[in-house]
Amino acid sequence: MISFTPSTQVFHLQGETYSYFMQVRNGILTHLYWGDKLPDADISLLIPETKAYASFDSDYNRLPYEVPTQEKGYFSQRALNILNAQGDDVLSLRYQGHRILPGKKALPALPAAYAENDAETLEIDLRDDLTHVLVTLSYTVYQGFDVLCRSLQIKNEGTAPLRIANVQEACVFLPKGEYDMLHLKGSHCRERHVLRSALPRGSFSLDSRRGASGHENNPFLAVMERNADEHKGQVYAMTHVYSGSFRLSVDTSIDDRPIMMLGMNPDVFSWHLEAGESFQSPEALLVYSAQGLNGMSQRFHKFIRKRICRGTWRDAPRPILVNNWEATYFGFNEEKLLEIARRGAEIGCELFVMDDGWFGKRDTDNCSLGDWVVDQKKLPNGLKPLGEKLNALGLQFGIWFEPEMVSPDSELYRAHPDWCLHVDGRDRTQARQQLILDMGRREVQDYIIQAVCSVLESANITYVKWDMNRNMTEAFSCVLPAHRKLESQHRYMLGLYRVLEEITSRFPHVLFESCSGGGGRFDCGMLYYMPQTWTSDDTDAYERIGIQYGTSMVYPCSAMGAHVSVVPNHQTNRITPFETRCNVALGGNFGFELDLSKLSDEDTQKAKAAVQLVKELRTVLQQGTFSRLIDPSRHDNLASWQFVSEDEDQVVVCLYQRRVKPNMQPERVYLANLQPHARYRLEGTEEVYSGAALMHIGLSVPHTWRDYESWVFRFRKV
Ligand code: GLA
Repeated sequence: MISFTPSTQVFHLQGETYSYFMQVRNGILTHLYWGDKLPDADISLLIPETKAYASFDSDYNRLPYEVPTQEKGYFSQRALNILNAQGDDVLSLRYQGHRILPGKKALPALPAAYAENDAETLEIDLRDDLTHVLVTLSYTVYQGFDVLCRSLQIKNEGTAPLRIANVQEACVFLPKGEYDMLHLKGSHCRERHVLRSALPRGSFSLDSRRGASGHENNPFLAVMERNADEHKGQVYAMTHVYSGSFRLSVDTSIDDRPIMMLGMNPDVFSWHLEAGESFQSPEALLVYSAQGLNGMSQRFHKFIRKRICRGTWRDAPRPILVNNWEATYFGFNEEKLLEIARRGAEIGCELFVMDDGWFGKRDTDNCSLGDWVVDQKKLPNGLKPLGEKLNALGLQFGIWFEPEMVSPDSELYRAHPDWCLHVDGRDRTQARQQLILDMGRREVQDYIIQAVCSVLESANITYVKWDMNRNMTEAFSCVLPAHRKLESQHRYMLGLYRVLEEITSRFPHVLFESCSGGGGRFDCGMLYYMPQTWTSDDTDAYERIGIQYGTSMVYPCSAMGAHVSVVPNHQTNRITPFETRCNVALGGNFGFELDLSKLSDEDTQKAKAAVQLVKELRTVLQQGTFSRLIDPSRHDNLASWQFVSEDEDQVVVCLYQRRVKPNMQPERVYLANLQPHARYRLEGTEEVYSGAALMHIGLSVPHTWRDYESWVFRFRKV
């Protein structure tokens, strides 16, 4: 999978369908090619192009550096800025050697993709002799997965300290061309809407400075041929296995080549590196697809499901849950919870999740975060008997936490007012009336581990919703010296990851779902510890179609929490049919978030039918191949997506229509990824069609008199 040709000094990394070539030229590691898989020999075509540089040796700005830095005549954006003892950041990194190793090493203190005897890693050492900086680049290629993992480590081999001011762990020069870019834009309740625009000539960046990947910009960017769509065209995409602030950028080289980069956000990051110390960057995931956006997403989905998500729940069917948040908010007691749970059990749910409000004196959101002790007023019998009663109903017991936070009105804050991120002499900005703990501090980490573990040990709890409801302001640790203050955000992430590793490995049977005011921290860093994320606090079925559609660009459906809620919807006041709310929620990990005890008999029957359907389809929905068919941001009235089972025998097509229109034009949905010559029966009918017909003639959209109508078509190969 990885080879090095000494005569040409060319590295060739081969995935299942892509090739990635680099060349050492006069000691400089340069990028040659990323695209469709090529035989080794053909790369000679690229060599003359790079040879052309020989006559322009002074023109370093033309060199497609793998790791561009401040040196000689390179003027485009840099991947590394390291300030040396003299105060300059000139860095001439030159090739020292490389190793091709079986497997993949874990990254120190950071989440990263793992291997199961199916990977090979290339490590390349680059060194600056004057400052004694050693940069080790790491590239991992997999068999069976089409994702290239890339990270770097910086070692200070000198005797004086260094300051790392900028680290971009991935940088790729794309071929010159006309491109569009696509990213996922949003805010609270409007997460990950697809935004596609022409790639500008010049510089463009997507940032988070929030101390979380954030609602605003997901850490993902695709750059693609102008004519690429869901099914065709070349797409180059990046995301990373990190949950904090980031920068994703595209600069344009002097030769009009887009330079794509991903790394730490230099506005909120700096790192002091003592002699002998190393700094490890997060890991970037690079995907190339010649099959358009669906090809890109399918590569991400399979990899995230199998090489980012871990543990007992990776492949296990995810439980159908009922959560009490939108049903009761803070106003519940044991009796009320059990009333909802009983109805949940009757309709076939498998897990009851007790959301916010069970601890301290938390009757509103203005207190008690940090005091993880059960509220005796609401739950006089405590957690254990509640768990037993739920278990007796045939339900598992799940619980909500927001461990990274502290309310100013809490015992924890009164005891440790300096445990939050803050700057002396300035306001401690509150958001949702809470402050954020300094997770970089060991004593804070230990407190959280102890507090969460003791609750989990106190009852038969098998699910945790791990929430994080605000971003960082005054994001500085009071225990760090001035020259290390800008390390606070990254130290927070390292502390968080230590806490998550500790807790999730102590409770391997517990299913963890991450959340951040809905989907404010939907990233591979969190998915490494928790295989699912609450997609959005917006549970309106119509809005959710766009949110789930966008989320699916990178993340598999098995990673998305999706719940049926009440109408009028609490976020939009919109009324949608019960069946449509169910049909949208089955595009993720299905659950209910409403007071089931108030459901009409008719809706109870519909809820039962939906649960039954999800149970029948769960393997296809969670393990199958997902394709987007109709993009709601491009079609004025329809959206559609599709699942094909791993064995390719079953096909599930979900179709959503927004409004009834008078004298409607006939519309069609064209299926994808079927075997053209295979024949598929539409379940519940005797209708049998070839894969080719379903893909090229398509299904006609049925007529309806209802707004927000939806359909689920099931096909089985005959
Ligand atoms: C966040 C979550 C919600 C709910 C509330 C509880 O907003 O996204 O699902 O858990 O917190 O306070």
